[in-house]
Amino acid sequence: MLQACKLAAGNWKMNGTRADLEQARAIAEAFPSPKCGILLCPPATLVRTMADMLAGSAVMVGGQDCHAQDAGAHTGDISAAMLADAGARQVILGHSERRADHAETSALVAAKASAAHASGLVAIICIGETEAERDSGQTLDVVLTQLKDSVPKRATSANTVIAYEPVWAIGTGRTPTLEQIAEVHDALRAALPDAGISLLYGGSVKPGNAAEIFAIANVDGALVGGASLKAADFGAIIAAL
Ligand code: G3P
Repeated sequence: MLQACKLAAGNWKMNGTRADLEQARAIAEAFPSPKCGILLCPPATLVRTMADMLAGSAVMVGGQDCHAQDAGAHTGDISAAMLADAGARQVILGHSERRADHAETSALVAAKASAAHASGLVAIICIGETEAERDSGQTLDVVLTQLKDSVPKRATSANTVIAYEPVWAIGTGRTPTLEQIAEVHDALRAALPDAGISLLYGGSVKPGNAAEIFAIANVDGALVGGASLKAADFGAIIAAL
């Protein structure tokens, strides 16, 4: 099922200070009435300010991670309730960089997603294979296992989005073939707990390849890293949706 309204989501990762908020403002000004959803996920330090700045615009603001608990002795962490209070409407969870850097398991990602849902946030749950897993023919097994273990059983299209991000395509300028993306997205669609859940592709999406990726059946948008940092590039990707 192709979703009626696609989503262009920008993941700024550990990039951005207040001066970069101008990029977000430029996106909001360029797309006052977009035909698709637009989301920016800045570092936690900018969520509140960006949300205030973009209030009344068509651009949503999200976080990049949250803790599985609402509050407590977890130095340096941020809860879903805190993100919601800061103006976030969505949160990226289980990004491969967090799985690698912080040893996050799919079970933990599912617990974080449940916490996000409880705070009224849409969870954007990331899955994807490594290059070694693809080379050894394990791609579908890996992503389907991650999907099953990372997505809470009661996830719905209203509270959950899945982002397929092959680890080897992130920040490398390399992308799977259109057929490879289609193969994974078709398999994910068939396995979703709610067939209406949106499926984003992420990994070296740029202005030059966005249109052909968005034309693939079962690709409902993109989760964009590097190219979301500059309004000109992200705007060109949004325009391709
Ligand atoms: O979450 C987005 C991401 O991991 C893709 O990054 O820089 O390859 O677009 P990039």
